[in-house]
Amino acid sequence: MQNENSELPVILTGDRTTGPLHLGHYAGSLRNRTALQHTHRQFLLLADLQALTDNAHDPEKVRRNVLEVAFDYLAVGIDPALTTICVQSALPALSELTMLYMNFVTVARLERNPTIKTEIQVRGFGRDIPVGFLCYPVSQASDITAFKATLVPVGEDQAPLIEQTNEIVRRLNRQVERELLPEAEAMIPKVGRLPGIDGKAKMSKSLGNAIPLSASPDEIREAVRQMYTDPNHLRAADPGVVEGNVVFTYLDAFCEDVALVDDLKARYRQGGLGDMVVKRQLEDVLQALITPIRERRAQFAADPAYVMNVLREGTARARERTQRTLNEVRSALGLFEL
Ligand code: TRP
Repeated sequence: MQNENSELPVILTGDRTTGPLHLGHYAGSLRNRTALQHTHRQFLLLADLQALTDNAHDPEKVRRNVLEVAFDYLAVGIDPALTTICVQSALPALSELTMLYMNFVTVARLERNPTIKTEIQVRGFGRDIPVGFLCYPVSQASDITAFKATLVPVGEDQAPLIEQTNEIVRRLNRQVERELLPEAEAMIPKVGRLPGIDGKAKMSKSLGNAIPLSASPDEIREAVRQMYTDPNHLRAADPGVVEGNVVFTYLDAFCEDVALVDDLKARYRQGGLGDMVVKRQLEDVLQALITPIRERRAQFAADPAYVMNVLREGTARARERTQRTLNEVRSALGLFEL
């Protein structure tokens, strides 16, 4: 057993439970997490409360997907002996910390948060934004600090949330005149975000351009068939463009044979290599990647009792840790004690 002082660097990250995860999640975070669990103390949060902040009209969807995302985690190789998987809504300390932190953040600052600002625009909330949604950066600050995480592996779009977290940490530390909570660092993956199969900047279930981690062989084949390439590459003999060509972007992301990909790129640029040939190569790579994930996922989905147990044990461990932090914050602020 490790004691607190010799603890490995602590990572917290998580996902909103709004739907099963897809290849974009795999490339952007899941793949990293399976590696990081060996070198860090890793906590994964099934963020159902955060999911509710923009899905209050469909709480059943949020509830159902807690298990779906857990299946995805286990299927890609998250090992519950190395990583603690926990459920946000079952950790009351997170909500209590949010209540305390809200006193250290202004509405103006939240509205200026680039992540929030973009989402307000995209969703067309205007002044009718739910308070919970506006405050989700505060809740995310609670998630991160409650675990005393110093590293948060997230996509680039989430970086402003880590900055906001650190502002809260600094204000609180100044208030209590000591280093009560550590600041956290965003760990942004070097590879950019995986585009959707239509070439749009983001792979997303709601945009209908995603390949789920549970995709069947036929679904994989069909997704590759539809995939956006170079729209001006009409005949195999023509020279083609590799940049922004989704088939090549995916080969870069998932094909381990770099020399093969380089060769395909050179021949494609030169002319004489048809889309079909490149797509067949990618299909092989994706079938080989997804098949074992899909099969493991089906095994876990067939044994929900085992997965529930993983979540119960992980959440119990997380409850202890987050409650300890809450107690420290309560006592540092000098809240009334009974
Ligand atoms: N906001 C993250 C997302 O949309 C999910 C999340 C919730 C999270 N709490 C977190 C990520 C804490 C990192 C740390 O994907």
